[in-house]
Formats: sequence, structure tokens, C-alpha cells
Amino acid sequence: MASSMLHGAENIANIRGRVYPNGLEFNRSDLHGRKSFLKINLASGNSNLRGISKRLVVPKCSVSVPRPASQPRFIQHKKEAFWFYRFLSIAYDNVFNPGHYTEDMRDEALEPADLNSRDMIVVDVGGGTGFTTLGIVKHVDAKNVTVLDQSPHQLAKAKQKEPLKECKIIEGDAEDLPFETDYADRYISAGSIEYWPDPQRGIKEAYRVLKIGGKACIIGPVYPTYWLSRFFADMFMLFPKEEEYIEWFEKAGFKDVKITRIGPKWYRGVRRHGLIIGCSVTGVKPVSGNSPLQLGPKVEELRKPVNPLVFLARFLVGVMAGGYYAMIPIYMWLKDQIVPKGQPI
Ligand SMILES: C[S@@+](CC[C@H](N)C(=O)[O-])C[C@H]1O[C@@H](n2cnc3c(N)ncnc32)[C@H](O)[C@@H]1O
Repeated sequence: MASSMLHGAENIANIRGRVYPNGLEFNRSDLHGRKSFLKINLASGNSNLRGISKRLVVPKCSVSVPRPASQPRFIQHKKEAFWFYRFLSIAYDNVFNPGHYTEDMRDEALEPADLNSRDMIVVDVGGGTGFTTLGIVKHVDAKNVTVLDQSPHQLAKAKQKEPLKECKIIEGDAEDLPFETDYADRYISAGSIEYWPDPQRGIKEAYRVLKIGGKACIIGPVYPTYWLSRFFADMFMLFPKEEEYIEWFEKAGFKDVKITRIGPKWYRGVRRHGLIIGCSVTGVKPVSGNSPLQLGPKVEELRKPVNPLVFLARFLVGVMAGGYYAMIPIYMWLKDQIVPKGQPI
């Protein structure tokens, strides 16, 4: 595994031999045979990565066959995610999160959200311990920000943070938000979509709660290209492909949909190991009211009750697969220390 990861630069490939400069629009007919244009920006605090990203834009995985967004990955369910965070919340801020999602990544990921007024009404969905909310309240008055999460254990940590004291902190479900239609100026969700059983429904809700001209910003992982990382990703939770994010946004009715890639400083443009955080996707709501997209009943309304032993087995396998991703930052950090600067790792 280690040796194949060493050739990580190959992992970000141009589409069918084309090369796209940083931030340039590329023709999406390359992906779906349709004619439309998508903007991809590449963000990283690392100057080496900036050099790499000028030449390279889309990972190989983006051109493979679409797969079902709701296939049963073991932690991509509300109940499993609830129990996962029952335990993970204990060490989330100090141990797990810093390896995958640093403060500079967060701030770069929030830039496309365009938080340009302190008076904006902002909802942070799947806000957890409030790590991303801390980035939001740098730009927006805390009293205008609502943090929503399905995990009371995660929210209890957010409530302890001084800068978030004036935020509204509430329990709720990303797929069924307790906000009025046309309520918020900005919808932010960081690192949560991967747990939603029906991401399209969550993005449709993002559309509904925004005001006309409001912007949604979803920060999430990207599907890895390295086979072992894919294997564990598919057992663990949802790692969407970049074009899946775009498609969900467009189907929900968003316009001006853009993707900005994010990665930690030691990332150096490599994607096949499958980092947890990968991109920040934004879209603008063009007309007020509900999303034009019609969906059937929620996944959990269709699911039969699960035998507790089956639940436990699935949960444990999912947690073990997640363990692989907990190791990646340590492995990559060590490589960053060893491999000479300027070379991909
Ligand atoms: C990786 S944490 C991200 C927390 C925070 N946004 C941050 O930036 O650190 C994912 C969060 O999503 C929450 N979550 C998962 N599924 C959810 C759902 N259906 N509705 C609301 N929150 C959900 C989890 O409880 C967890 O707190």
C-alpha cells in the first residue's frame, strides 16, 4: 500500500488527456455527455500544492460509472451515526478532527460561502461540536447563527465554546429541517453529508430553507481513487464523487454551482488515500419557495426494523472501516516529514 501511495501524483488525472488551469471552467460534457459548465477551484495553504493544482484538476474516480448514493454503507444511517458520535464526540475536537480538518482548511472551505455581512442569518447543519461554526462566527454575529445536529453529545461540546454562547443550538435532522421556507441567507454543512442516508433530500432541504439569492455551502469528502481506500470508504460511509455533489445541487434547483477543493498542508495534491475532507460545494437559490425536485418517502420510513445483533455487527464493521481513515492522517503526516518538500507524497 505504502509504495503505491508514493506515486500519488498520478492519482489526480486530467480528463481524457485534457489539462485545466486552476479555477478554470471545464466542459461537463466530458463527464456526462451533456453540455454545461462547472467551475472548479483548488484551495490549499500549501504553495507546493498550488503548483501541482495548476496542471491537475479532476481525480480519476470522477469518470467512473455512477453508484447509488444510498447503498448501505455501515455508518451512513442516522441511528448508526448517532451511536458513532455518542463515542466519537468524547475525543472529536482533540484527537479525530484535527487530523482531517484543520483551521486553515475550514477557513478556506468557508470562503466560497461568501459570509459578507455580520447580520446574515446562517444555519450550520450537522454542526456537531461547533468547529466550523467557530469559523462562521468570525464573519457573522453569533446570535444570527443556528447550529443543528442530530447528536446531543456533539452539541453539548458546542455549548461549552465561549464564542458560540449566543448561537441557537438545536437537535434536528438534516433531511427535515425545523426552519421555515426562505429563512436563511446561508446554509452551511461541513463533514456531515457523508452520514446522511439520502444526501439528495438533505440538499433539497438546504434549498428550501434559503432565501432567494441565498447560498448553500456543503463541505465534504471526495470518493478515493486508491482501491483499498475505496474498499474501506464503501464499508464506512458516503464519499461522494465531485460530479455527484454537482448533480445533487443542480437537481435541487441551485444555480451557479461551484466546487473548491480543500486539503491539509501535508496533502500535496494526492487523493487516492481518501482523505475525509475533500471539497466545498456552493450553489445559489434562484427563486423563492420549495425546491422543484419531488422525492418519495424518506429512507427510514421504508426500512424494516433491524435486528439488534445485525445492527451491532454492522456498526462494528463500520467503525473498523472508519479506523482505516483515522490512521491516514498519521501515515500522511509521517510521509510529509520524510519525503522531500516539492515532491508529491
Ligand atoms: C464529522 S461531524 C462534523 C461536525 C462539524 N460540522 C465540524 O465541522 O466539525 C458530522 C456531524 O454530522 C452529524 N450528523 C450526521 N447525520 C446527521 C443528520 N442526519 N442530521 C443532522 N446531523 C447529522 C453528526 O452527529 C456529527 O456531529
